[in-house]
Formats: sequence, structure tokens, C-alpha cells
Amino acid sequence: MLNFEYQNPTKILFGKGQIEKIGQEIPSDARILIVYGGGSVIANGTMDMVRKALAGRNISEFGGIEPNPDYDTLMRAVELVKKARINYLLAVGGGSVIDGTKFISAASCWELGDPWEILRHQGKGIRTVIPFGCVLTLPATGSEMNHHAVISRKTRQITLPSASGSSEGSGVVSIHSRVDNEKLAFSSEKVFPQFAVLDPVVTFTLPKVQIANGITDAFCHVMEQYLTYPVHANLQDRFAESILLTLLDDGVKSYRQPENYDSRANLMWCATMALNGLIGAGVPQDWSTHAIGHELTALFGLAHAQTLAIVLPATMHVRRHEKKEKLLQYADRVWGIRGENPDEVIQQAISKTVAFFESIGLHSKLSAYNISADQLSEVSAKLLKHGMTGIGEHSSVTLEVCEEILNTAL
Ligand code: NZQ
Ligand code: ZN
Repeated sequence: MLNFEYQNPTKILFGKGQIEKIGQEIPSDARILIVYGGGSVIANGTMDMVRKALAGRNISEFGGIEPNPDYDTLMRAVELVKKARINYLLAVGGGSVIDGTKFISAASCWELGDPWEILRHQGKGIRTVIPFGCVLTLPATGSEMNHHAVISRKTRQITLPSASGSSEGSGVVSIHSRVDNEKLAFSSEKVFPQFAVLDPVVTFTLPKVQIANGITDAFCHVMEQYLTYPVHANLQDRFAESILLTLLDDGVKSYRQPENYDSRANLMWCATMALNGLIGAGVPQDWSTHAIGHELTALFGLAHAQTLAIVLPATMHVRRHEKKEKLLQYADRVWGIRGENPDEVIQQAISKTVAFFESIGLHSKLSAYNISADQLSEVSAKLLKHGMTGIGEHSSVTLEVCEEILNTAL
């Protein structure tokens, strides 16, 4: 087992009715900003429960955080935080709202210039933040109990007038600045939520596609921390396999029976445990599937989980020699596949993984989204721009390997 340090400060309030308790978790004199997304939490009654639990408190609200939370939207929230002297944030929503809240929390206190630098430097330099808690409504990302966030920024052509103030057409050149479609992650110990409420009931209104995305995301979080090479971290391996097996069982039940409380509760806890640091402590980690996936989202607009269902099987295939021992362990312990011929066993395990994603409506090929070979160089260019030229547990996933993975996924 590798050396590790592990601390997770987030308090979990799990189960039916736990939203009632949030008032006890937030200082009574706090000026609170409730942050939410496109309105699902208003439609399904979660916001009413939150407002009721915080009745009589100093509350403002900021809605409109998009899936793949957008930098410009978040910066409008930062303005509000400063103007209203907010000193506590409460995220009510899925991973996008929680990630967005993490960014608002850090950017509101950022004193080192342009807050986009938080993303460009992966969170280094964050010193102080506004404390926050969350009410999770979508089991998927693990953001509710971790210190990561992923923020997007759409292409913008910014035209600044030249120093003389003349406009275009006058013969004086204006200054153009361009921000390309970006999706970047940051991490900081400062952005762990103080508490997270996980009430499976508020997730009953999720469309099936979001449940499938959540199962896939959690599954791939486990795989990024499990499918590497053995380091005799036996407990972590068993933890990881137990999450995968529970996702195959309760995850699928929850997909088929949206109001089955027990299955949804198991799916919800799986998703949290898949990325709260526990199973990744003391083991090598990959994360190349996510790195490639984020570029696919930024460039082509695929949902996060859609990218993972495409990249993971292709990664398993292209890197099958490097990952051979763990692939065989995965085949045996998760799928019960054994045999004389390791190549065949691995191939069957990959096929099972693809069939699982497809059984919950995910596609495993880029062509399903009309992405063709001639567009793949854009992905490589982005990975190069972001310094992702040697990723994975052995830093062996070069741009050439990424291209091979994407070509395999065509
Ligand atoms: O915007 P609203 O109206 O709230 O609707 C959302 C959104 O349209 C809807 N939804 C959420 N809860 C609902 C609901 N609809 C009905 N009933 C409910 N109870 O679901 C849609 C998707 O929500 P979103 O928050 O975008 O999904 P998810 O939780 O999958 O988050 C995805 C984001 O998290 C990032 C992804 O890259 C992506 O930006 N990730 C964050 C990670 C982290 N912080 O550790 C790790 C992950 O790998 C991932 O990268
Ligand atoms: Zn993910």
C-alpha cells in the first residue's frame, strides 16, 4: 500500500427528512446565499423544505447555475456575495450547483487578480473561502463530500476598444481576446462542504437519463482509482469492488424503479463513497478517462457521463497490457469471469462493461454523437494546451495514446 494522509471534514446527514436539520448546521447570525440550478429544486419541493428549515434567517437566493457550471454565471453570484456581504453559502442541487458553489466560495475571497486563475492553477493559491453546506439532489459526482470542482467557460470573443477609443472600421485596430470552450477542474482542502444532506426522496424526480448518468459517473470514479496496478491495498480494492457490485445491483434497480427508497439510498451512498477520498487513499490513480472526457464535453457538449461511457471501454482496451493484473481481478471479482486465456477474459470484462452502460441507455461510441475522426485533432490540441501530455497512473497516456483511445472509440 502507498503512504497516504486522509482527512474528510464533511458531516453527512443521510436519509428522509434530514433537510429539517440544516438550520442547526449554519450559524444563526449568518447572511446566507442559497445557490441553485435551473429550477428543478423549486419544482420538486426541495426548495420549500430548505426555506422552511431556514425560516426567520437572513437569506438571499441565486438561481440559474447551468449543468457544467459556467464561469460568467458564477461571477455574477460572486458580485452578489460581495454586495450583500454574504458569509455562508448553501448549494441546493446536483454536482454542477455544488461545484459552482465551491467556485463562488473561493472566488469571493480571491485577491490574486483574475479569478479564472483559480482554474488555471488547479486551485493553488486559495487561502480563504466562504463556508458552505449542501443539499444534494442528484447522486453522481461525489462533490457533496469532496474538495474538487469542475468549471466551464464558453467561447467568448471579447473586443476591447483601442487606447485611442476608436472603433473598428476607423482604421485603428481593436484588441481581440478569445476564451475558447474550456472545462477545467480545481481542488483545494478549503472547499470541502461543511455538511451535506443526502435525502434519497428528493432525487425521485430525476429523469431516468440523469440516474443513468449518475450510476455511470460513480462507476467510473471507482474505476479511475481501482483499475491501475496492484499495490496490495486489499481493503481499498474490496471497498472499490463492493461499490461497483452495489451499483450493478441497486444502481440498476434504482434506474428501473425510480421510487424504490432502499435502492436509491444505496445508489446515493455509493456515489458519495466513490469519490470522497476513501477508496483512493494509498492506491495509484488514473483519471485519464476523466481528462479526455472533460475535453469532449467542452468541445462537443456531451454530458459528463456520456463521455465516460465512451472513453473508459476504449481505455480498457488500448491499455489492457499495462492494466492486465487489475483487469483480470476486475473480471473475476466483479463479473465472475475466469478462464485459461487472459486476453479473452479481459475482452469479456470489457464487453460486460459496455453492455452494462448500454443497458442503462448510455452509448459507447463517439459516432453515436456524430463525432468523426477528423474532429479528434481538436481534442489532442486541447489536451496539449492543458498540459495533459503524460496522464494516467504511469504518466504513460501521451497524446498519441489519447488519439489511439479516441480512434478505438469511434
Ligand atoms: O439545473 P436544475 O434545474 O437543478 O436541473 C438539473 C440538471 O438539469 C437536474 N436535476 C438535479 N437534481 C434533480 C434534477 N432534476 C430533477 N430532480 C432532481 N432531484 O439534473 C441535471 C444535471 O444536473 P448536474 O448537477 O449538472 O449533474 P451532475 O450532478 O451529474 O453534475 C455534473 C457536473 O459535475 C462535474 C461534471 O464535470 C459536471 O460539470 N463533476 C464534478 C466532480 C467533483 N466535483 O468531484 C467530479 C465529476 O467527475 C464531475 O467531473
Ligand atoms: Zn466524473
